[in-house]
Amino acid sequence: MEKRMHNALAFLKKAVGDFIPEIAIVPGSGWEEIVSIFENPRCVEYADIPEFPQATFHKGRFVFGTLAGVKVVSAGRLHYYEGIPVEETVMPLRVLRLLGVKKVILTNASGGINPSFTPGSFMVIEDHIKFGVPSPLRGKNPDFLGVRFPDMSQVYSKRIQTALFRAGEKAGVPLHKGVYLQTAGPQFETPAEIRLMKLLGADAVGMSTVPEAIAAVHCGMETGGIACISNMAAGISETPLSVEDITNTAARSVPLMKALLKEAVIEISNL
Ligand code: HPA
Repeated sequence: MEKRMHNALAFLKKAVGDFIPEIAIVPGSGWEEIVSIFENPRCVEYADIPEFPQATFHKGRFVFGTLAGVKVVSAGRLHYYEGIPVEETVMPLRVLRLLGVKKVILTNASGGINPSFTPGSFMVIEDHIKFGVPSPLRGKNPDFLGVRFPDMSQVYSKRIQTALFRAGEKAGVPLHKGVYLQTAGPQFETPAEIRLMKLLGADAVGMSTVPEAIAAVHCGMETGGIACISNMAAGISETPLSVEDITNTAARSVPLMKALLKEAVIEISNL
């Protein structure tokens, strides 16, 4: 794993020279469109990087560029449900950390459990619950990245949460805040599972983000998260869930996602 990461790092350095992004963005459903407003985008496909994990749902690629004058990189998401070992799904972020990236914004589309949410609204992630997904830190600890038993009492940096709320105000995008719960997927939840998750204190549910957040904190990246509530979770609304409806709602939210992330990178780079 260590050798593969260093090989990938060498490959990236060759591709982007001394360009070191300040902020990484991991785009969830809908959010991938953000790269269309990057200035001077430079794309590095995961498929071209030796022994790098391959994406089957989102676009497997890094896109380097600037957004509102801030050096950024988007890292295409890999999900556990794709059959990729969980420790491999966090490889793109870890390689970016080795490149020198110190902050990350994780984004996703998720189901609303909190009844005050509505489809198309946004939630700043305050904390998370890992539900049936293995830890990306299992196995031999990569000591060159972080410690064996990292603290998780503040996964989502308070400073970044505050910066995201400021960004929301500037962009005119109202933001909820809450707890995100990740399942292994790929099936959506049953209404009984959603009732349990509500009891556990979850406000939104999805199939991503948590392993990345754990790995990011482990390797010392300051972490923030935003969920787009693309639907109400099973049983909260009577409508059966479909990936098409979720994708359509996420697609309708793209202009807001762009406005929010643009302000967010400005606010976060000023921290
Ligand atoms: N459940 C799980 N994952 C999701 C959902 C959901 O309701 N919506 C978008 N991703």
